[in-house]
Amino acid sequence: MRIFAIETSCDETATAIVDVPARRTLAQRVYSQLPEHAPYGGVVPEIASRAHLERLPELAAQTLAESGLSWADITAFAATTGPGLTTALVIGTTFAKTLALANGKPFLATNHIEGHALSPHFANTQLTFPYLLLLVTGGHTQLIMVEGVGRYTQLGTTLDDAVGECFDKVGKLLGLPHPAGPQVEKLAATGNPQGIKLPSPLHDTSLNFSFSGLKTAVKDLLTHNPQPITHNPSIASAFQTTVAQSLARKTGLALQQTAATQLVVAGGVAANAAIRSALQQVAAQHGATFTAPPLSLCTDNAVMIAYAAGLRHAAHLSTGGLGSAVRPRWPLEEMAV
Ligand code: KG4
Ligand code: ZN
Repeated sequence: MRIFAIETSCDETATAIVDVPARRTLAQRVYSQLPEHAPYGGVVPEIASRAHLERLPELAAQTLAESGLSWADITAFAATTGPGLTTALVIGTTFAKTLALANGKPFLATNHIEGHALSPHFANTQLTFPYLLLLVTGGHTQLIMVEGVGRYTQLGTTLDDAVGECFDKVGKLLGLPHPAGPQVEKLAATGNPQGIKLPSPLHDTSLNFSFSGLKTAVKDLLTHNPQPITHNPSIASAFQTTVAQSLARKTGLALQQTAATQLVVAGGVAANAAIRSALQQVAAQHGATFTAPPLSLCTDNAVMIAYAAGLRHAAHLSTGGLGSAVRPRWPLEEMAV
């Protein structure tokens, strides 16, 4: 199966053609709209939609040319239909539906989170079901048992801010441009957190997370810290360490409770080396293997969408065809069969 997929749920415009049984990327493009949103300090939905509309034809044509295929060689056309920004989802979905109609091929409505959840499986051929997944993105912080395609059990989630959202908000307090996650990591590299006390988030035995208290604690440093807070490497370092410890502690509890032998991390925040390293350690402590997808598969891309769409299509679990609407809210648990 050769799946052509489009990802436009937020501020990346992405296309890919993936050979699904072979787990082979035949071609892909990602256009990051960052510079267009930067002056506003966050993603502006209307700007995102316009940029998707402008960029998609060129990216789709480049992807097809690089693959060496023609439209007739494509088995099915997929797009992220949720969750995400409504108008942004509509652009990619309409584009992919049009290609499907014009070529007389199926359209596959695809869940963005399921794309993230299955992406490590695409990268690591040794990985088998079931695995314990820690999903860390700008909108989600979840511990999920992935038992198979369409078989997901949520074990824990965040009670307030998602971890990526918290990185972005704390980064903003530190005077860093949006999205601040990667910049916080860079700043933290030169920091010395000695003497900076941040509270340990939700230090209980549940598998849930909470990050808003940590964000407030950093905000409080604004008023009480003798050193200027902007671009302060030590605060960035203390914050990142606290987040990594909290994620690792709860993941350790989940490994213990489920006796899972494989730990996987996915989502944009999985790009963070300190977090990867803390998770690697906790996996080793519990005798579990650890898989983190390559960076290009961690942040938003269309390869993961093509892969998830193809797996569901092959298993006759397709979530919707040409008549499907976009779903700005679409929890992974609803994908369970
Ligand atoms: O998965 P993703 O690309 O988009 C969503 O589906 O949300 O995740 C984006 C999030 C943003 O909050 C961004 O700041 C964060 O991932 N992020 C990072 C790093 N790279 C991206 N957070 C911490 N450290 C990083 N290196
Ligand atoms: Zn994402």
